[in-house]
Amino acid sequence: MGSVMSGAPERKVALITGASSGIGRAFSEEYARRGIDIVIVARKEPPLRELAERLESAHAVEVTVLSDDLADPETPDRLFQALAKQGKLVTHLVNNAGFGVPGFLCEVDWLRHRACLEVMTAAPVRLCHLFAPAMKKQKSGTIINVSSLSALLPPHAGGTLYYPVKSFLYQFSLALRAEMRSEGVHVTALCPGFTETNFQNAAGGTVESVAVPKWLWSNSKDVAKEAIHAVEANKAVCIPGFFNRSIATAFKLMPGSIGRWIVRG
Ligand SMILES: NC(=O)c1ccc[n+]([C@@H]2O[C@H](COP(=O)([O-])OP(=O)(O)OC[C@H]3O[C@@H](n4cnc5c(N)ncnc54)[C@H](OP(=O)(O)O)[C@@H]3O)[C@@H](O)[C@H]2O)c1
Repeated sequence: MGSVMSGAPERKVALITGASSGIGRAFSEEYARRGIDIVIVARKEPPLRELAERLESAHAVEVTVLSDDLADPETPDRLFQALAKQGKLVTHLVNNAGFGVPGFLCEVDWLRHRACLEVMTAAPVRLCHLFAPAMKKQKSGTIINVSSLSALLPPHAGGTLYYPVKSFLYQFSLALRAEMRSEGVHVTALCPGFTETNFQNAAGGTVESVAVPKWLWSNSKDVAKEAIHAVEANKAVCIPGFFNRSIATAFKLMPGSIGRWIVRG
């Protein structure tokens, strides 16, 4: 981290949301491997406890388990207060929790849409709002917002909410980065493509994933590692995988009408 962490407190602490599986679990493993204490958040407590036990004995780090539901608007404040009580200062924040919402807007239950908005827009923003001031004060810290390659593709029917939500998180991340530019705090938007996790199962399988060849899938360990390198290097955006980067560039360069036509097909 070099100069980024020069004013940092002695013990670094990474808070990772959605750590009970997939990319969040991989982030937790990678930070613990680097000797950084971690705070892991998700709804399911047993996988968090199992992860905590394993990482504490493997890496001699302190792991704090906070199982909570980020669809509840009060959760970010509850997490902040719990950590303040323990005197923990978050130096690395990973806003990773999320899930897919396949289906047309009117056919999906409103509570699912509302949870999607809460977990992937309001919660990450509030967590930044709560934890970034101390990072600013320390003139050091990192924030990774887990968006998606979807954020860089034209929206399409059937992903009516997920694509715009991930676009919001992507834009928010870039704006926050600009705000933090002179504050010593690094902010990166992570835009993974198809990654082998529980995501597809949790979403009930998506139309796109059925046709995606095996070689196109990334593994969550590589994604987390690449994202941490990117935020350390103060990169605005991290798109893991050459193919994913090529797709993003191609859609950026082509006229919007052609992009929408391709995605519709
Ligand atoms: N896998 C992909 O192909 C892919 C591609 C692009 C972007 N992403 C993004 O990557 C992030 C991680 O997803 P993943 O692929 O690792 O999927 P995953 O294996 O299903 O993990 C999702 C994590 O989010 C947590 N979560 C979901 N709803 C939550 C809630 N209401 N409150 C707290 N935690 C909640 C889950 O824990 P609990 O169920 O225990 O709460 C789980 O730990 C997501 O933001 C996703 O949109 C994934």
